[in-house]
Formats: sequence, structure tokens, C-alpha cells
Amino acid sequence: MSESTPRGDAEPGMLDISAGEELGPTGRPYRRIPDPAPKDRHGPASIVAVCNQKGGVGKTTSTINLGAALADNGRRVLLVDLDPQGALSAGLGVPHHELDETVHNLLVPPYAATDDVLMRTRVDGLDLLPSNIDLSAAEIQLVSEVGREQALGRALHPVADRYDYILVDCQPSLGLLTVNALACADNVLIPMECEYFSLRGLALLTDTVEKVRDRLNPRLELGGILVTMFDQRTLHSRDVMARVVEVFGDAVFDTVINRTVRFPETSVAGEPITSWAPKSSGAQAYRDLAREVIARTESRG
Ligand SMILES: Nc1ncnc2c1ncn2[C@@H]1O[C@H](COP(=O)(O)OP(=O)(O)OP(=O)(O)O)[C@@H](O)[C@H]1O
Ligand SMILES: [Mg+2]
Repeated sequence: MSESTPRGDAEPGMLDISAGEELGPTGRPYRRIPDPAPKDRHGPASIVAVCNQKGGVGKTTSTINLGAALADNGRRVLLVDLDPQGALSAGLGVPHHELDETVHNLLVPPYAATDDVLMRTRVDGLDLLPSNIDLSAAEIQLVSEVGREQALGRALHPVADRYDYILVDCQPSLGLLTVNALACADNVLIPMECEYFSLRGLALLTDTVEKVRDRLNPRLELGGILVTMFDQRTLHSRDVMARVVEVFGDAVFDTVINRTVRFPETSVAGEPITSWAPKSSGAQAYRDLAREVIARTESRG
């Protein structure tokens, strides 16, 4: 006797069409994901803007851990910290406050060379363009520049052929820095906290993505919606999930990130969960996400 009936269970006398298919947390059966093909040549990079103007939804956590999981699959990955808070840099153990040259120097004159700002991380195959509070001035300085929306694209251009993925961690706003990320991206990955009020902001975000696609970057696609901080036990979480799947359909990744204290712990440790707690369910979730991202990106050819 169980208090709740799993959604895949057929009622007596009804044909269970999902028989043999395990339902995932999205309420759909898991899609089959092929094993990632090995890579012997790298680039040109697929640029992914990790974006949501709502704060604290898991953008930075997802950028670090997806990046590390992609690198574990033999992909070359560059992470770009496009938030003056520098949480991405800090989350990778970089003492960003002390850096003289950061993303800020790539966006406004006198321009630094991208290679001079680039750093390796402790994860093999994972590099970083770090930021600190200096970047907060860029938004204002950029306003008067010609081609102000293309500054990040220009800075990434010289290195994009070396990487398979460039993940840009955006700040929680739809200002000029975020528009720069969208203007050079191939797709946008939207982490959303599984919470009712998160749904409201998504329409504004998808409108912005459409505007950037129309006016600045026809390549831009919605790469996927990643539901984060999910709690399978609460009806609220399951309700929000059902609504997200109803609105966004196949764009919602099968992989869902559960709410767990392991993530705040890794920020303190300054390394990805995939190396800090490789056996944790959080690490497994980001490895699964990496497989989905590889399948979606690399099947496009
Ligand atoms: N799945 C999760 N479960 C529990 N806590 C999480 C999870 N993902 C992230 N966190 C924690 O939530 C906080 C916010 O996460 P994160 O910094 O990744 O969000 P963000 O969207 O980048 O925030 P901001 O908008 O401020 O840049 C952090 O303390 C992080 O450790
Ligand atoms: Mg962040």
C-alpha cells in the first residue's frame, strides 16, 4: 500500500503504455542518449549563454559543473565569468579580487589579448576567463562604444576554434553584459529554480532571446531549460515541473538537479562537484546533463 501512485502506473484494466519505460522527474520517460563519441579534433566552439535574470537559480553552479562534466568527456571547455560578483571564478578557487587582467579588459579599451586573461583550472581541459568587480564598470563604459553588443563576441573570436564549448555565466539581469552573451551565443541554457515565481520571469527572458535573435544574432536558439533545486517529495515541485514541461516541452532537459546542500559546500571548496564529491547524486546529475548537451549539440553537426 503506497500513499501516492506513481504516474506511470496504469489503472486496473487500462493498458499501461509506459510499460518498460522508466519515468523521469519531468514526468516523461527518459529519452535515450547515445554515448558521447570520442573527440580527437577540437573546435569550433558551440557558445552557450547560461542565463536567467532571476538571482540564485543555479546559473553559476550549472556553468561550473556542466563545464567540468563536459571536460571529463574529453571536450575542451572555456568558462566565461560575465558576472562582476565573480562567483564562477571563486567557485573554481581563483583569487579573482587580486587579478589585474580580467574579462573587463577584453570588453573595453585599451583591449587586452584574450590569451593574456585566459587561465587553466585544476580540471583538465577546463579553462577560465575570470572576472571581478571591475566588470561592473564595463556595462556603463560599453554604452558609448560602437558595436557595444558585440564586444564579448569579438573577444572570444580568437580562441573559439580551440574549444568545443564556451559556457558564459551571466549575471542576474538582462542588461548589456547579458545581451553581449546572447549576441555571440549559439544557444541559451536557462537554469530555473523549481518554484512557482520562477515561471513568471521566463516569459520576459524568452522574449529577450527572441529580440536578440531578430536584431543581433539569427543563430541564437533555446538550448534547453534546466530545472534546478527540485524536490521530488513536494507537490509544489511536481506541480511547477508539470507546468514547465507543458509550456516548454522538449526543450526541458530530462536531467533535473535536486536540491542538496552538497552544492553550497562545493562553492566553499572552490571546485566542481564532479571532482569534489564524484559519487554524489549531484555530480551524477551534471554528468547526465553533459551527455544531453553533447547529444543535442553534436547531433546538429
Ligand atoms: N541544486 C542545488 N541545491 C541546493 N543549493 C544549490 C543548488 N544549486 C545551487 N545551489 C546554491 O544556491 C546558491 C545560488 O546558486 P548559484 O550561485 O549557482 O546561482 P546563480 O543563478 O548563479 O546566482 P546569481 O544570480 O546570484 O548569479 C548557491 O549558494 C549555490 O551553492
Ligand atoms: Mg551566478
